[in-house]
Amino acid sequence: MTALTDSPAWKALAAHHAAIKDVHLRTLFAQDPGRAERFSAEGAGLFLDYSKNRITDETLKLLLQLADERGVAQRRDAMFAGEKINTTERRAVLHVALRAPRGTRIEVDGADVMPEVHKVLDAMADFSARVRSGAFTGHTGKRIRNVVNIGIGGSYLGPEMAYRALRPYSDREMTFRFVANVDGADFSEATHDLAADETLFIISSKTFTTLETMTNAATARAWAVEKLGSDAAIAKHFAAVSTNIPAVTKFGIDPANTFGFWDWVGGRYSMDSAIGLSTMIALGPDNFRALLAGFHAMDEHFRTAPPARNLPLLLGLLTVWYNNFFGAQTIGVMPYSAHLARFPAYLQQLQMESNGKHVDLDGHVVNYQTGPIIWGEPGTDGQHSFYQLIHQGTKLIPVDMIGFCKPLSPIAHQHDLLMANLFAQAEALAFGKTAEELKAEGSPDFQTPYRVTQGNRPTNMILADRLDPATLGSLVSLYEHSVFTQGAIWAIDSFDQWGVELGKVLASRIIPELAPGPEPALRHDASTNALIARYRRMRG
Ligand code: F6P
Repeated sequence: MTALTDSPAWKALAAHHAAIKDVHLRTLFAQDPGRAERFSAEGAGLFLDYSKNRITDETLKLLLQLADERGVAQRRDAMFAGEKINTTERRAVLHVALRAPRGTRIEVDGADVMPEVHKVLDAMADFSARVRSGAFTGHTGKRIRNVVNIGIGGSYLGPEMAYRALRPYSDREMTFRFVANVDGADFSEATHDLAADETLFIISSKTFTTLETMTNAATARAWAVEKLGSDAAIAKHFAAVSTNIPAVTKFGIDPANTFGFWDWVGGRYSMDSAIGLSTMIALGPDNFRALLAGFHAMDEHFRTAPPARNLPLLLGLLTVWYNNFFGAQTIGVMPYSAHLARFPAYLQQLQMESNGKHVDLDGHVVNYQTGPIIWGEPGTDGQHSFYQLIHQGTKLIPVDMIGFCKPLSPIAHQHDLLMANLFAQAEALAFGKTAEELKAEGSPDFQTPYRVTQGNRPTNMILADRLDPATLGSLVSLYEHSVFTQGAIWAIDSFDQWGVELGKVLASRIIPELAPGPEPALRHDASTNALIARYRRMRG
């Protein structure tokens, strides 16, 4: 395949960018009142208005041509067919199988994976129902009222995000906590008020080797044994989710409480696998299946919708447009929903662990930018904090805004205020306020330069009916496939994460050097040596 920057569509986009980079959204809307209708699309319960982007019909045509030239559709079909598109790990990439309905056939190495997927889902449903009903009891015979998920990265961010997002659908009689950090404070704070005889720990780890999770799992075991007075309590107070069943067995978790998944599920793509066990206990099996149905609806949309109306494809291509042609380094994601407070953090791993790569699929260092930095906070909170920089700063920050037409909260009258702010921010970012407008409004002359808001700041507006399980599934799948689209354009492996390994290796070298006793000979660089020595001194 031609190098990305030599491809005809890329070159045409570069020339096109030079021609339209200074055109204001005010001009684009004035010249083309139909753009709001034309530059919007709908699918799997989500509506996307992308008209407030710095694009024209020509931009869209060229971006779609780029997707065509780079074989995005072929790579997508290869993923859905179970081909080993994660080439650096020689693995299939089949999170889409996790939410495919019964009866679908998806093969890896000639074997249909779907019967196993549904076997695990059924086992999770049975276990969740027993925990929720009180049929599953703890060591002393009491029902389980607290669930603590211990896991990090993809084994934490999805479960915590989904629990917070869908809390109104959860069993309010139960408490759900999430422990990720190896900082002991995380465990202490999560458990300080929990009764051990009513607490279930779910050890969630794809590999069952991750330092943080294994350390917290050992702490949890010691906590439970100390409080319940017997090793036998482990069988009744621990469940595990992993691809590494031998390690789970070695840890001593009852095989009846163990739920597996497969190497073709990436950690950051696993919230809809058994890693979602805490989500299923919180919401109940039916709501979890509705979540999966939402994921699947967006998978089908991505697989079958025409390119010009394909939400994940459009979102991914717009990311490429700003990242590679406007030089935007970051993308803000602002959900106008307090329930989606952890959604930006979830997307950070999804996007940045997937597309933070500097080598292409052929092993060559790329000569173009890859994955942007993702960040965000719920609106309206962010408006009173960092939005100033987006409105009037010197950096271009494209923003995705997410809103829901119906509230989840019973305090429904506040919802219009929330939505008014959502629409107002997108309007202000796009159109700003000119010196003339300020003057006409009577703004004092000396303030005018400071009050001018340039506008021309792009946004995508994603609207849905209500934040329910199906909508959350659809939303997550939208971003998964947007990330996929970007990775396919950049010709990188979006499904490995080699960059996280070095830090882990270095930490394992430093751990024994911090052990109590005489200071060992340190053989790091001068800075690291001095920091270790200072820490040992100050720790006492
Ligand atoms: O260190 C990064 C990472 O491997 C992520 O990709 C993963 O989601 C996380 O650690 C947790 O891994 P595991 O589920 O194997 O404990």
